[in-house]
Amino acid sequence: MSFLKRNINCGELRDTDVSRKVVLNGWAATVRNLGGLIFVDMRDRYGITQVIFEPEFNPELAEKAKEIRSEFVLWVEGEVRLRSNPNQVIPTGLIEVVASNFGIINKAELPPFPIEDGIETGEETKLKYRYLDLRRPELQRKFIIRNKLYQIVHQYYHDNNFLEVETPVLMKSTPEGARDFLVPSRINKGKFYALPQSPQIFKQILMISGFDRYMQIVKCFRDEDLRSDRQPEFTQVDVEMSFIDRDDIISVTEGLFVKVWKEILGLDIQSPIRRMSYAEAMSSYGSDKPDLRFGMEINHLSSGLMSTEFKVFQDIVAANGLIASIKVTNGASLSRKIIDELTEFAKKYGAKGLAWIKISNGEISSPISKFLTEEQMEFIIRSNDAKDGDLILISSDKRNRALTILGALRLEVARRQGIFEKVKNNFEFLWVVDFPLFEYDEEAGRYFAMHHPFTSPMEEDFHLLDTNPGEVRAKAYDIVCNGAEIGGGSIRIHDNVIQQKMFDKLGLSESEIDEKFGFLIKALKYGAPPHGGIALGLDRIVMILSGTDNIRDVIAFPKTTSGLSLMDGSPSEVELSQLNELGIDLFRKTE
Ligand code: AMO
Ligand code: AMP
Repeated sequence: MSFLKRNINCGELRDTDVSRKVVLNGWAATVRNLGGLIFVDMRDRYGITQVIFEPEFNPELAEKAKEIRSEFVLWVEGEVRLRSNPNQVIPTGLIEVVASNFGIINKAELPPFPIEDGIETGEETKLKYRYLDLRRPELQRKFIIRNKLYQIVHQYYHDNNFLEVETPVLMKSTPEGARDFLVPSRINKGKFYALPQSPQIFKQILMISGFDRYMQIVKCFRDEDLRSDRQPEFTQVDVEMSFIDRDDIISVTEGLFVKVWKEILGLDIQSPIRRMSYAEAMSSYGSDKPDLRFGMEINHLSSGLMSTEFKVFQDIVAANGLIASIKVTNGASLSRKIIDELTEFAKKYGAKGLAWIKISNGEISSPISKFLTEEQMEFIIRSNDAKDGDLILISSDKRNRALTILGALRLEVARRQGIFEKVKNNFEFLWVVDFPLFEYDEEAGRYFAMHHPFTSPMEEDFHLLDTNPGEVRAKAYDIVCNGAEIGGGSIRIHDNVIQQKMFDKLGLSESEIDEKFGFLIKALKYGAPPHGGIALGLDRIVMILSGTDNIRDVIAFPKTTSGLSLMDGSPSEVELSQLNELGIDLFRKTE
């Protein structure tokens, strides 16, 4: 053996351990040489322990210790003693280990950035050297939370009689709405598997097979545009149940969140979790995932402005659009420049303009005041419950666009006013229910399933399927926490006739249906129980639990927003021979 094995870790020693002989293994986090006295902070996953090499005590050893550099791997044998200048911040801060022997197990090159919390290094460098970044306690803490979450999830569903079943990674494409990642088949040239966007179809088939309660912690793959809360491969807690209705799924899922928040954060979530219809979420918050940690709801103004002289408003009223607003408390002090920035921000969401009203020292100022009667101005102020010092931002547009603009502005204003910082330790859960079954795509000129085509319409809206499909509500639900969609699911269609009708409405031809999901349609004919489920975004839950807004912080080896893995350099070109074997010919690049 070329090193002495540890008998204690670097986070374990306390003042009660004074005089103990110990052996530590770990990395040299920092090395300081104070006039021959050498201090080394030894780091492992459990913590940091200060080691001291004293020339008075052992001159030879202290001389040899001068070789130690940051990130060298060491073993150190020594005796615990109290520190003369205790560090109250770290748990081992009261003691140090006086080295009586040590060895360099492995040397390390000079790392490209200091391995400590709170560093300012660019993300690209950190991702390229992910193994070094992952040594930082701040990141390790997030993976410890992630691991706790796996344990709780498995235990919880096991206790509730769920079976974990693995579903294929190489499969036929699933219709979740994003693009598939394709995998060419060597044995069946010209044919492709798809990586699962979710195990949706398989879990439904498991219900038909009688598995009754299924769960799986599972990787899903979606080739979509990436953002700070989206990765091309991510993890779901996937769940499906038979002989249940919506409330069963909701209550089982809530039970999990209550347990997770209690066991990981020591917090009691208010249960039952509040529910809000999709219609109300859109109307009051301009979002299907409202952040309820603060107010600033949308106020609807059209009814009081029917006879307005302002052309912009007139046109919108005539076109059955919406005039609506949000109130920015104490916003009257915002400069013209900032209001212009907010207007530009609104334009990104399709706004043509943004009207505003400031109330300051009893005076009203607004670019649209000349177009409004006194009563109309008063109506707007009253509808917003605006007081002196407040600002009102008004959007008038097609209904959904006006709501989306104000919903986005609400978050942008909150960000600028530091509201998120103030509420960062609050957790506001919400079930958004009664989603529309379909979404109309103007460009394609047809309806798409808002969740997926297996989602059941509500019985009471059945009669609208032919006459007014846009008004049909689905038995679909999302769970939202602090404005993030952390899960979504639905009760499925288990009746083949309804499923066919759904496909008709989606404009799918017989052959398309058969090609895409013929096997599910067939399976549904062989005795499908009523069933439904949900999938939770595990990465997003870890983000919230660990207080980060970057999904890359909670995935060990993540991709950049351009889908690159900077550490291993994927995706990469492959050997021509590999392509030949797969029967694939690439288009020649044209510059
Ligand atoms: P859905 O598509 O809503 O539903 O996905 C469920 C949850 O997965 C998370 N999620 C993501 N997380 C990180 N990166 C991504 N690219 C990403 N995409 C989705 C979200 C989301 O709420 N089969 C259905 C579920 C069902 O009906 O049972 C499904 O996949 O938190
Ligand atoms: P105008 O008379 O067109 O210059 O517009 C007067 C004010 O109305 C300006 O502050 C514009 O930003 C605002 N405005 C223009 N279009 C809209 C709109 N669709 N919604 C709300 N405000 C608008």
